[in-house]
Amino acid sequence: MIRSTRNSILTFVHASREECERALAAEIAECVARSPFAVFGWATGSTPIGLYRELASLHAAGRLSFARASCFNLDEYLDLPAGHPHSFATWMREHLFAHVDFARAHTHLPDVHAPDPEQAASRYESAIAQAGGIELQVLGIGRNGHIGFNEPGSTRDTRTRVVELAESTRVDACRTFGSLDAVPRRAITMGVSTILAARRIRVLAFGRAKAAVVHALLHDAVSAECPATFLRGHPGVELHVDAEAAG
Ligand code: GLP
Repeated sequence: MIRSTRNSILTFVHASREECERALAAEIAECVARSPFAVFGWATGSTPIGLYRELASLHAAGRLSFARASCFNLDEYLDLPAGHPHSFATWMREHLFAHVDFARAHTHLPDVHAPDPEQAASRYESAIAQAGGIELQVLGIGRNGHIGFNEPGSTRDTRTRVVELAESTRVDACRTFGSLDAVPRRAITMGVSTILAARRIRVLAFGRAKAAVVHALLHDAVSAECPATFLRGHPGVELHVDAEAAG
């Protein structure tokens, strides 16, 4: 693993995805061992799957318990029926919640079935604050520089809200949904400022497809064109990549 600071972001280039996943899982286990009531922020997508697998195996080995911890997911699709197989709620159950010991009431995703989604978004923002804020946020990056579902154009001061998904994000989601028509057009996402309020942010990016956006995150001008650039200057951010994503 090579560690360096680039444009104020502490960057770790790992020899493999697995090395990165083990390191981050160990950090999370240490965090919750020290602060059992810690609040975590989770991401979905293909990137964090191995990390969640690693957390599940630490839990199975008796080396990690989330029994008193709580968590908030970054985002959730709007306009899908409850229990939809491709909702992030289902995804989180399959990839993490079914394999660790969070109390169900302590796992939060935006309430996309509320009659007023904008109000539900504000309630989500308040719930995070009431929980004491997020200690450690796991974050992936979209190919277009989005974080959560903060698409290009999202400013630094954005809070949890209803957003329209970018075309490229919907095209990427075709892999999961099977066709573009099946991909939702809207979501509720934590805002950029909601994400930046986390005390530690661990950004993960693996594979060649992420090399360009990793380069943009580290070197482009900080702007809403690439919302990931707003991570620069956060005192607790680390970028964890494999050699391919490092370019
Ligand atoms: C989705 C999620 C993001 C995620 C991104 C990257 O749109 N809302 O939180 O980081 O896609 O996904 P992947 O990890 O599959 O590349």
